Amino acid sequence: MTDRLQGLSIPEHIAIILDGNGRWAAKHNVPRAQGHRAGCETLEGIVEDCARLGVKYLTVYAFSTENWKRSSEEVGALMQLFRFYMVKLIDIAMKNDIRVKMIGDLSRFDPDIRAGVEKLIEKTSDNEGMTFAFAVNYGGRDELRRAVMSMAQDGTDLMNLTEKDISDHLDTGGMPDPDLLIRTSGELRISNFLLWQIAYSEIYVTDTLWPDFHRTELEDALIAYNRRSRRFGGR
Ligand code: FPP
Repeated sequence: MTDRLQGLSIPEHIAIILDGNGRWAAKHNVPRAQGHRAGCETLEGIVEDCARLGVKYLTVYAFSTENWKRSSEEVGALMQLFRFYMVKLIDIAMKNDIRVKMIGDLSRFDPDIRAGVEKLIEKTSDNEGMTFAFAVNYGGRDELRRAVMSMAQDGTDLMNLTEKDISDHLDTGGMPDPDLLIRTSGELRISNFLLWQIAYSEIYVTDTLWPDFHRTELEDALIAYNRRSRRFGGR
């Protein structure tokens, strides 16, 4: 731990909306796909940083249910990157005792991608350090829709529904709610991410574009988080 974080509390669960790969590419006058590649490299570093800092859960919004609307060229480039990144992630996870989990509806991905995901989850399932939840084809509304369907299907008593029933049926079931939600590149919106789970999360928005978000920027977010007074609606 560096001096800047001495004595500070580390959030149990950090969620990140990684945004700004396209703007980073435009700023550097390179194709958008290169911005996503740079974003992937940044993600590798942040995953390791969080694991070393003792974060227990890291959830990252990598591909939304709305991202399919991008050009076929960009979606294709993202899928290629996803294929490549999943393999790399096995090494990173094994080196850092990270268990990988996917949230979102995986049924829309090509069979080879789904097989890669299964392998990644299976290989890292016994790791006990940090849980890294990777949100792909994820949308908060879609997740709630699927949770309601699964409750109807498994006989949950819908007339006596509890908040815990809902939490348990979400893709994040079993994970605590995020303490800190970070959004890069300055947009002040939630973009359909973890709608139920972020009810009391502290929100930190930085103008830094995702590919430029490194250890120092993570520390800035953690320092800001430690200045917040969390009351969960109480006084
Ligand atoms: C947001 O930047 C980023 C994405 C839509 C995807 C980024 C995902 C990764 C780098 C991780 C790899 C994972 C997969 C599934 C490929 P943006 O393109 O919205 O940036 P902009 O708002 O500046 O255009």
